Amino acid sequence: MMPEPNSYRPIISGATADDNAMACLELGLKMFDAQSRGAPAAILIEPIISAGGVIVPPQCFMEGLRTAADERGMLLIFDEAQTAFGRIGESFGAIYHGVVPDIMSVSKTLGGGLPLAATITSCAIEQDVHDKGFSFYTSHVSDPLPAHAGLAVLRTIANENLIERAREMGDYLRQQLETLQQRHEAIGDIRGAGLLIGVEIVKDRQTKVPHHQLGALTTELCFELGLSMNIRRRAERGAVWRIAPPLTVSHDEVDRAITILDQALSESVDKLARAS
Ligand SMILES: Cc1ncc(COP(=O)(O)O)c(C=O)c1O
Repeated sequence: MMPEPNSYRPIISGATADDNAMACLELGLKMFDAQSRGAPAAILIEPIISAGGVIVPPQCFMEGLRTAADERGMLLIFDEAQTAFGRIGESFGAIYHGVVPDIMSVSKTLGGGLPLAATITSCAIEQDVHDKGFSFYTSHVSDPLPAHAGLAVLRTIANENLIERAREMGDYLRQQLETLQQRHEAIGDIRGAGLLIGVEIVKDRQTKVPHHQLGALTTELCFELGLSMNIRRRAERGAVWRIAPPLTVSHDEVDRAITILDQALSESVDKLARAS
């Protein structure tokens, strides 16, 4: 496992996002090389680390991974289960970062709700896999029903310009969250790409100590008020709302969500203050 390039919680305090990311890369590779028996297989990464707290690695980190993989004869694999097909305002995380992996895995968004996944690779790797007699089966391999759903998803994304829409609505949602941040000290960081946004909840912006209790209480209150929020709570990674609305989300829906979030945050802060 590599240290993640989290610019809000850098491993070198005061370092720029790029310097911090390159330090994470160097440390991770040193740890890896020290433990490797000399036959490494692959580097596997989500282009945006989603459930891990919506961490967007800088481009130099992803380029560094490509170089590191090439130098060691390893494959670079992008897990694009959450980042593919428009959510991040680009068709793929690979396009977002401008880095070409050897293998990409896609699922979730491809089936639009139906179970559908795919592995995308180069002709050379496919041929190698074939020559070595590798085969993979599941009951639904090449199932025409989810495959048609996948085609419909791809057509809809293209016909309704959903990639562009994710970019525009992501910008809008981010602006509204930034306005909310001006009123709530607890909103420590807002990050992400397109309609995959992370909001980190802290005790105060100076210390950046994660406020797990406030995150949990606000999430509960949001739900009662009609807004489903997904919070990631990990001691080492903070309390982070992972916000990923449908790509078709409207301005009115974003406004309503922000109003609920505003109310829920204020009431939760008051409630915790009264309890202490
Ligand atoms: C980044 C990532 N990779 C892989 C998976 C697993 O995908 P699937 O359930 O389609 O195998 C998930 C599911 O949550 C995911 O978020």
